[in-house]
Amino acid sequence: MGTGTVLVAGTGALTWRAVDQGVFSTGEGTAYDAWDVWRSGDGLMALVRPAILAANAHNTQPWLFELGTDRIDLFADTRRSMGTMDPLHREMVFSLGCALENLVLAARANGLEPAVTLLPDPGDDTHVAQVDLSPGSRDVSELYLATPDRHTDRAAYDTARAVDGSTLAELAALNDETDITVVWITDPAGMRSFGDLTVRATEAIVADGEQAADDYAWYRFDWDDIQAKKDGITFDPSGASPLFRALVKLLPTPSIGTSGDGWIAATRDRHVATAAAFGLVVASDRGDDRQRLLAGGFYQRLHLAATTLGLSMQPLAQAVERADRELSSGLEPEFTDGLAPLAPGRQVVLPFRIGYPTAETELSPRRPAEQVVVRT
Ligand SMILES: Cc1cc2nc3c(=O)[nH]c(=O)nc-3n(C[C@H](O)[C@H](O)[C@H](O)COP(=O)(O)O)c2cc1C
Repeated sequence: MGTGTVLVAGTGALTWRAVDQGVFSTGEGTAYDAWDVWRSGDGLMALVRPAILAANAHNTQPWLFELGTDRIDLFADTRRSMGTMDPLHREMVFSLGCALENLVLAARANGLEPAVTLLPDPGDDTHVAQVDLSPGSRDVSELYLATPDRHTDRAAYDTARAVDGSTLAELAALNDETDITVVWITDPAGMRSFGDLTVRATEAIVADGEQAADDYAWYRFDWDDIQAKKDGITFDPSGASPLFRALVKLLPTPSIGTSGDGWIAATRDRHVATAAAFGLVVASDRGDDRQRLLAGGFYQRLHLAATTLGLSMQPLAQAVERADRELSSGLEPEFTDGLAPLAPGRQVVLPFRIGYPTAETELSPRRPAEQVVVRT
């Protein structure tokens, strides 16, 4: 075989791997259909379809929707827990609060008035909400319309553009629950300090064998696996350049160590380094499920509103994930103590960064609504 033949054969194999790994199909296939059909469907499915597009921890989609005739009950699917990454289920319940918010916005957009009862069954803490629906006025809000445009943006943000104080105040006003608020960190020293804490927390997770494994378990690298499972953290919305993403898809699956090193570098050099500001969703008690649900709803509103203003957001949960790990495993309270002064008298539930985008965001996969609905 001549050199030319080997080259042609090599190029063919590379092209085949590129096709097989979805290099030319970003955001396509059944794993992404939910983003196209979000507004379709009759009856209560028209409320579930937008609900499943909510932000949620590690894209675990830890929800089940029980549909009655004029009522939806929302349950935690605890089989989709993140183990030591979320040992107290803070992120799971917060994620359900995000989905509930999208559902409530969708109810009003469909001419239904939602009456929400949080944690309706004291004997079942997986039953997080009961939503009774009655005919009401139709309110197709801006936040509802932003549902399919909200994506977690992990790319660099525009370091030349600050988010002005009036915009941050406008966003903060999206909450009227006394137990919940947002704390903005905008001064350079405060941002440096919170950024350092987040990078150290990322390093601590990567160095903790159990936590690193529970984190890695939700990473999806294989295109067929993504299309089959339709969940988890994929590389397309990683914020890396299209060329680098293509390269990573062509290479063998990154090991847990390579993946952890990449996460630390991205956190330090991109996420923290280009944030225009940090926000902290805080609560009076982050161990309280009701407050976690309200905090999730507030985060979802913040992210939808930011989307309508042309702003990007990304949760940076590492410091709280370490604090929960410390509490559940009796470790030294390094991150518990690091977070405490940031919200005196309150507790940080979810930190995030905010800023103006520099790149298009890519879709994350979703399981279809039909897969997470139970009919009574
Ligand atoms: C409680 C919670 C914690 C999260 N933590 C992080 C995080 O630390 N880093 C990150 O990049 N995204 C984080 N996310 C964002 C999710 O990964 C994201 O919402 C999910 O992958 C779905 O993608 P989408 O928001 O683009 O629809 C978090 C989201 C929630 C609700």
